[in-house]
Amino acid sequence: MSTILLAGGAGYIGSHTAVELLNAGYDVIVVDNYANSCPESIKRVESITGKSVKLYEADVSDNAAMEKIFAENKIDAVIHFAGLKAVGESVAMPVAYYRNNIDTTLTLLETMSKFDVKNIIFSSSATVYGEANKVPYLETMPRGACTNPYGWTKSMMEQIFEDAAKADEKLSVVLLRYFNPIGAHESGRIGEDPSGIPNNLMPYVTQTAVGKRECLTIFGNDYPTKDGTCTRDYIHVVDLAKGHVKAIDYILANDKVCEIFNLGTGTPYSVTEIVETFERVNNIKVNHIYGARRPGDLAECYANADKALKVLGWKTEKTLEDMCRDSWNWQKNNPEGYGKK
Ligand code: NAD
Ligand code: UFG
Repeated sequence: MSTILLAGGAGYIGSHTAVELLNAGYDVIVVDNYANSCPESIKRVESITGKSVKLYEADVSDNAAMEKIFAENKIDAVIHFAGLKAVGESVAMPVAYYRNNIDTTLTLLETMSKFDVKNIIFSSSATVYGEANKVPYLETMPRGACTNPYGWTKSMMEQIFEDAAKADEKLSVVLLRYFNPIGAHESGRIGEDPSGIPNNLMPYVTQTAVGKRECLTIFGNDYPTKDGTCTRDYIHVVDLAKGHVKAIDYILANDKVCEIFNLGTGTPYSVTEIVETFERVNNIKVNHIYGARRPGDLAECYANADKALKVLGWKTEKTLEDMCRDSWNWQKNNPEGYGKK
């Protein structure tokens, strides 16, 4: 069976993808510097699947460390999750974001070229559509102007991958544009474990429900949407992880590809709908107030997910209720996440 290297694989999406790849019969190697994670997530991946993961602690932008990993293993494909992802922090520390996100990408491409590894899947984001494109977003739309440095790193990395694929007749690239991943593995053993005050909606909701935060502020209720709050395409992280397995099957089955896929459900839900559904399915109150808009937020963001269905044979299976139930199951079983990072 093929061996897949997950760069940044100890994180939220990487750990869930490791479970689905192992369940599908792939061998998994993880490299992570634990900038935003810890090795405990991978121990739990092993206990969920009953299979072992080869784990390296290293910085993915470190050429010597990466060459050692590629020399020690026969790698068939790489999935590049390693990156910094906090939008607000990227505004305050743009150089650190450009350095980390772009360096990891360049080092991976250089090492792959040296060791003749020809398949890479990249964690991109719906943020690359920018403000000018109209929802639902289609892969054929041009990348737009991003509203923050994090988004620009994704846009630039997509360009780097496309240029590299153009220049190398054997290099295959799949760019996956994620929408809003939430939820957790149904075991409640792995999930999202943000450091400090969460930036994203669902961890803020779960931490408010568990009593770690006093009150959720819903950012704006005067948007031109169904109830005035922003809408997003929330996707269960296990569905997202399964999308990676389909993308790996696809990239390994084809000689040469360079393709973009949206990974979303195609259905937008508002912030108020998220809070109300969470309260209903979990039978728990989430203290919340309506506050000012958050700078940089778009009113609406959702995918046209037809291409992933047509080409990869992938579509989401989980409901919003599943997402809310599994997010809470993870939080209540692990009120401190994985513990100390
Ligand atoms: P995460 O922070 O949980 O995972 C990223 C992992 O990369 C972490 O384990 C971190 O320690 C590691 N990492 C960062 N820099 C590294 C480096 N230089 N060397 C080695 N490891 C490094 O985030 P996630 O939510 O799992 O996201 C995974 C990828 O998906 C990221 O690239 C992110 O930008 C992208 N993405 C995430 C979302 C989202 O909402 N979660 C949306 C769109 C795209
Ligand atoms: N929100 C609140 N209160 C909060 C947190 C969020 O009302 O405390 C709202 C936001 O205003 C937004 C929605 O919840 O309307 C979702 O916000 P998130 O921060 O969870 O997600 P975003 O859609 O802003 O951002 C996500 C990823 C980014 C990515 C972007 C576009 O976190 O990495 O999608 O793909 F760039």
